[in-house]
Amino acid sequence: MKKDTLLAHAGRAPEKYQGMVNTPVFRTSTVIFPDLESYETRTPDDYKSVRYGRHGTPTTFALEEAVAKMEGGHQAVAVPSGLAAITAALSAFVKTGDHLLVSDSVYAPTRHFCDARLKPNGIDVEYYDPLIGAAIKDLIRPSTRAVFCEAPGSLTFEMQDIPAIAAAAHARGLPVLADNTWGTPYFFRSFEHGVDVSIHAATKYIVGHSDVMMGIIVTSEQYWLPVRRAVADFGFSVSPEDCYLALRGFRTIGVRMKQQMANAIRIAQWLQSRPEVLRVIYPALESDPGHTIWKRDFTGAASLFGFVLKPASDGAVSDFVNALELFGIGSSWGGYESLVQVARIDKYRTATRWNPGGPTLRLHIGLEDPEDLIADLEQAFARMKQAG
Ligand SMILES: Cc1ncc(COP(=O)(O)O)c(C=O)c1O
Repeated sequence: MKKDTLLAHAGRAPEKYQGMVNTPVFRTSTVIFPDLESYETRTPDDYKSVRYGRHGTPTTFALEEAVAKMEGGHQAVAVPSGLAAITAALSAFVKTGDHLLVSDSVYAPTRHFCDARLKPNGIDVEYYDPLIGAAIKDLIRPSTRAVFCEAPGSLTFEMQDIPAIAAAAHARGLPVLADNTWGTPYFFRSFEHGVDVSIHAATKYIVGHSDVMMGIIVTSEQYWLPVRRAVADFGFSVSPEDCYLALRGFRTIGVRMKQQMANAIRIAQWLQSRPEVLRVIYPALESDPGHTIWKRDFTGAASLFGFVLKPASDGAVSDFVNALELFGIGSSWGGYESLVQVARIDKYRTATRWNPGGPTLRLHIGLEDPEDLIADLEQAFARMKQAG
């Protein structure tokens, strides 16, 4: 099946639910067994049958199946947030005395978890240059347990060479974990490129409507049980209503993302022509250093990218951002609406410096008409100039 067909059909079973197109919302905590024998012989590692509400209901399983199939993974598990997906997945692989390799470009709360929770528990977290590629082999030690990637980093948009990193990691028997929120299961089928555990902030494009917090971890067969058991040990559980909404959002991820990508490219190219802009950082553009890898591995680009202003005062940057009327100022991305954020990056880096040459802003482009968004950016540039 082609992926758009899969999006419409995966995770559905109308024959089980009186012909209903969508798997209904099943709510439960307790599940009653027919006799004591079947209760006492239930298999703890069977995470895809209904045995207690915390482990999921058919509503949860429908979402998990659709996402896993789209990405080419073995199984998926939904958790309460993208950050919960990151922390549970990492916890499945490392314990005291272990060494963990983490890209220097990771989402800041991922780094915070490593610094505040893993390091004090005796895990040696080493941040590596996101552009390291095959040379990651030189950083692998006998105590290394996993390599964590994010391609591209969600603030600097540095594109990682996942297949090269995976080849080096696999040669030493190590799993590759990747935050694939930007790529999504739709634009980056990560398992075909060597990822073993793919992590999504489903809050973004999978949900797609800025109204649910959720994470989803998809794994290969080899790593399914270690990851699923870690999620169970943390007691993570997701409401069936949220799973229903997430699957409803996921059904249209293809049309949304294709349109949002087209809008984002239009706006990114317009920004490239502006005198106030030093450069646009977006792997979908030919001028971007990550373009070749992106084109090789991804089938599309998220509508999230950065642009660097020529040196400007903090006041001028504030004037620009505050003048925008159609771009909301706020965390998150992946919804239908456009957002702007100032990316304050360098304070996080430890393995490498990231000096873009001017203030960096991040835009998330939604489903609005791009010409309206351009007009909004244009008037904000004029306001910035006026303020001097
Ligand atoms: C790249 C990336 N990963 C993970 C997350 C965390 O997702 P959540 O906000 O659902 O915890 C975010 C949120 O902004 C993100 O940008």
